[in-house]
Amino acid sequence: MVHITSQLFVLAALITSSCALHLSKRSTAADVEADLKNISTQVTTLDNAINSFPSTCSLILALAIHSDAAPLISAINQATTDTNDVSPAPLSEDNGAAIITQVQGIQPIIIDALKRINLSEATSALEAGLIAAVPADILANATAIQTAINAAFSSACATYGSGC
Ligand SMILES: *[C@@H]1O[C@H](CO)[C@@H](O)[C@H](O)[C@H]1NC(C)=O
Ligand SMILES: *[C@@H]1O[C@H](CO)[C@@H](O)[C@H](O)[C@H]1NC(C)=O
Ligand SMILES: *[C@@H]1O[C@H](CO)[C@@H](O)[C@H](O)[C@H]1NC(C)=O
Repeated sequence: MVHITSQLFVLAALITSSCALHLSKRSTAADVEADLKNISTQVTTLDNAINSFPSTCSLILALAIHSDAAPLISAINQATTDTNDVSPAPLSEDNGAAIITQVQGIQPIIIDALKRINLSEATSALEAGLIAAVPADILANATAIQTAINAAFSSACATYGSGC
């Protein structure tokens, strides 16, 4: 009985602390904008690495992609976490517009990079989070970006084979 009680106590403490943590960790539009800036940096690095090797150097290319893709996927996942937890939601008009503009800047670089690698899962989660966060009147802009990226995934998958 003592043992069970102490386990319950630990469980209650964990639940309490994780709730407190969650409440104190709501992200802001500035967090999401910083995350997107980070994605832009990481995806540019990756895209440059991909483009700097001739397609025949597949081992070197694979190593370059491997070292640059992992931090990019972490950065995308961080942006997704912050976007899903952003407050206020929906974002203000100004913040929503600023974020759409940032995503539009990242979009062509992602599309270029993903012709060679599989960013599908991480990117889809971020798209869904952004669509949930933007104000209704610029939702069409966000869904247009999602459509363009998804179309690029489809054509990349068709070109580079299965597994997408
Ligand atoms: C960018 O993202 C990476 C991977 O998540 C992280 O390690 C790094 O601290 C981030 N940099 C900035 C400036 O947020
Ligand atoms: C959203 O799309 C419309 C129509 O293309 C455009 O006029 C407007 O400037 C876009 N808004 C943002 C925030 O990019
Ligand atoms: C690409 O990502 C999709 C979505 O998560 C996954 O189902 C698929 O197995 C991945 N393909 C490769 C080659 O890693």
